[in-house]
Amino acid sequence: ILCMKINNNELYQLIAKLDWQLNMGAEAMVEEEHNNYFNMEKVKTKKGELSTSGISQEINNAYLQEDEKNKGKILQESFDKCLTLEDLKNCMLDFNGCDLKKTATQLVFSDGNPNSNVMVIGEAPGAEEDRQGKPFCGASGKLLDKMLASINLDRNTVYITNVIPWRPPGNRAPTENEISLMKPFLMKHIEIVSPKMLVAVGGSASKAILNIEGGILRYRGVWKEIRLSKSLVIPIISTLHPAYLLRAPNQKKLAWEDLKSIRSKLQELND
Ligand code: URA
Repeated sequence: ILCMKINNNELYQLIAKLDWQLNMGAEAMVEEEHNNYFNMEKVKTKKGELSTSGISQEINNAYLQEDEKNKGKILQESFDKCLTLEDLKNCMLDFNGCDLKKTATQLVFSDGNPNSNVMVIGEAPGAEEDRQGKPFCGASGKLLDKMLASINLDRNTVYITNVIPWRPPGNRAPTENEISLMKPFLMKHIEIVSPKMLVAVGGSASKAILNIEGGILRYRGVWKEIRLSKSLVIPIISTLHPAYLLRAPNQKKLAWEDLKSIRSKLQELND
């Protein structure tokens, strides 16, 4: 660029184009050529963040089990030993069963206040989230913050995570297999936080948690419940993903209906 003798305007345009390409995941396509996906040595985890906990090893081994019934039992027993968010984060840092880890920069675990009544669950990190290691910190995160602010919530009063903790290359949607692979971690995450309500943002999050079919416009705004144990039943509502609202702003009125419903439910639960 420096050799090209361009004016400031052209330079800003070039930077904006590069930024757009990064957000579309262009670098992931370049990286893919150089990555050997079968070389576990190259699996990226943040340096110094590998845990020494035996639980992670047990979970990794459980995923390698061929017998599905046995696998479920061993997984459950291993997850039962994860008692804190730190335990869970360490297990996810050490988990090698999902290929998305190899192309992502880092694990995107959560943001916000783990003692909140409201837990918001999105789909998967995008480019900015992958860079910062924090969910919903890019363009759709800014809209999510505005949506939350409209009902007096913010990152001190909600806890935010995603179904998938690693950015899918090129911002593609996570596959069903990736979602079912990571679902036990998500369910454990919900159990540890034990919020008073869940907000599933977008179709992927809703389908991962609730066994529902069809488009989100059919079931958004409707309260359902998930049972995690005999004593832990949590109300859940699905709403439209801010990335979708950025593309279809005329649908914001539907999201506003959902936000009002979340506000009323919170009042009801606090009374
Ligand atoms: N979209 C999501 O679903 N999650 C994020 O963290 C960012 C964008």
